[in-house]
Amino acid sequence: MTAPETQAANAAFKPRIFSGIQPSGGLTLGNYLGALKRFVEKQDEGIETVYCLVDLHAITVWQDPDKLRHATREAAAGFLAAGIDPARSILFNQSQVSAHAELGWIFNCIARLGWMNRMTQFKDKAGKNAEAASLGLYAYPSLMAADILLYHATMVPVGEDQKQHVELTRDIAAKFNHDYGVEFFPMPEPVIEGAATRVMSLRDGTKKMSKSDPSDASRINLTDDADAIAQKIRKARTDPEPLPETVAGLADRPEAKNLVNIYAALAGTSPDAVVAEFAGQGFGAFKPALADLAVSVLTPISTEMTRLMADPAEIDRVLGGGADRAAAIAAPILDRTLEIMGMIRSRGA
Ligand code: AMP
Ligand code: TRP
Repeated sequence: MTAPETQAANAAFKPRIFSGIQPSGGLTLGNYLGALKRFVEKQDEGIETVYCLVDLHAITVWQDPDKLRHATREAAAGFLAAGIDPARSILFNQSQVSAHAELGWIFNCIARLGWMNRMTQFKDKAGKNAEAASLGLYAYPSLMAADILLYHATMVPVGEDQKQHVELTRDIAAKFNHDYGVEFFPMPEPVIEGAATRVMSLRDGTKKMSKSDPSDASRINLTDDADAIAQKIRKARTDPEPLPETVAGLADRPEAKNLVNIYAALAGTSPDAVVAEFAGQGFGAFKPALADLAVSVLTPISTEMTRLMADPAEIDRVLGGGADRAAAIAAPILDRTLEIMGMIRSRGA
């Protein structure tokens, strides 16, 4: 489907943003730049925004219950500290709105095995021993499609790694509409913008920065203090060359390119502007500047997260209120989906 066709298909739907983050560990700088920071920008543009801590996705690999509870509250604190305002955005955890699991099941019956077999994240996460992966990990993208389509969302801000899942969501929406002869689901578009749509590991510029990397030095956590941030940047892998005059000169230098992109995203400028400023300088000069910038942006967020985490009941209250508002949007959409499919809806009649 071309861009104008997508726009035409979505014209009947109100613009609405949906996105999610797994509470399966602490948030990283990758989550902040690739997702959270942009979630806040979208909220501030005045579009209706629905943000979800996808705990049902997290359990596709084993989660210790106490850690899951803590990680969910900490991620919620990260959203709030980064600037999500629960009065303007809906912020909730997925499992409090059971319609996600229900529509997820329905989409398991719409999605084809051939489509699921192409999902690269499953292959990465399942690794060599795919036989031992959970059935949920395999079905994960179909639950993600349910998350998005349950709200008739038209835009999905994500990092680069999630593009394939949003495309699958469109395939599921199109097949449902086609099979039932309706125009019920929109064609959500991935919104992948900014200088840091794929923040790489600080130890290996060819690997994504991830909360699940065994090396803590590979990532900056939103809970890291100023010393930890500065030290991780100082020790980040680089090469001996000075920074080039243009971004084209970073082509075969993944680690250098990553640090330039991080700088640009944190400063709200472009990678071109960053290399223009630092051209000819080595990492001895660039890294301290990057560390100062990262500390100045991230320290207020981590301080606020610590403050919020001191009152978990208040965080739970925010998530509960968000879940009530989310459920009010989701319930009629799920009901109509079931009705379209021929399921009797007669409770309370
Ligand atoms: P996850 O932590 O896998 O649940 O990802 C939550 C959101 O953060 C998704 O939109 C991801 O695309 C984004 N994200 C995660 N890691 C990175 C990264 N290293 N660079 C950019 N975006 C990321
Ligand atoms: N799969 C996403 C990730 O791992 C998280 C996610 C779940 C999501 N449901 C979503 C993202 C819906 C956007 C929209 O990053």
